[in-house]
Amino acid sequence: MTLKLSKVIGHRGAAAYAPENTIEGIHTAADMGIEWVELDVKLTKDDVPIIFHDDTLERTTNGSGLVAETTYEDLKQLECGSWFGDSFAGTKIPTLEEAIEALINRDLGFNMEIKPCAGREKETTEVALDMLSNYWDDHARLLISSFQHVSLEVARDIAGDWSRGLLLAPEKNAQGDDEGINPDWKDVADYLDVRTVNLGASIATRDIIQDVIDLDLHPLIYTVNDPVDARQFQSWGVEAMFSDEPDVILENLLTVH
Ligand code: G3P
Ligand code: MG
Repeated sequence: MTLKLSKVIGHRGAAAYAPENTIEGIHTAADMGIEWVELDVKLTKDDVPIIFHDDTLERTTNGSGLVAETTYEDLKQLECGSWFGDSFAGTKIPTLEEAIEALINRDLGFNMEIKPCAGREKETTEVALDMLSNYWDDHARLLISSFQHVSLEVARDIAGDWSRGLLLAPEKNAQGDDEGINPDWKDVADYLDVRTVNLGASIATRDIIQDVIDLDLHPLIYTVNDPVDARQFQSWGVEAMFSDEPDVILENLLTVH
């Protein structure tokens, strides 16, 4: 199956314009003519797949505590829009099912990032892929990604023909300083049989991007909000970039690549 990526993928929906990981964000991206969005998926305490980034509720909701210790019934009472702007007050945390319905309605491609709470790497993938399999037919416009190798391993084993992306952030040393890319990334990508390598912008050097291309994989970069960076990545052969301001990046990319 050929993967039909778009040049720009709305990060957490369209995170500069609408609260991240919400139905409003999905519609905002679609209204801008963005063709793909990325959303983070994790499980509530009672195994409901929801769209949410952090392990804790404080930053983006009026609740507190760990997502992994909160039931869906309790999460439903929270709102996740006020922190972003008063006009988004009352926005609810979407379930994966609600997000999929909105994505299909708006004819968007979907990068589902499996973002499990610690220790739930396997279950999160199983539940999310099970839900997705009930709805999603267009596998050319679906990418399952994760930083968690266990999650990608499970995805490979239970839905081997769906495209997977290996997310790579800078490795950290004991002092917390960046130490560049995981030196074993090529072996990991090979073992997990991924189609894309999704690189944090700070480790996405020209050489590493070329290495990805030489392996016949797609290089994707997150999170690119500066048009100058975007043009440079494009000139190095990057096919798709995640952006909080996907309209700005799309406008500034060359149409002929
Ligand atoms: O998938 C790209 C990007 O979303 C990875 O980082 O922390 O924004 O989920 P994060
Ligand atoms: Mg993400």
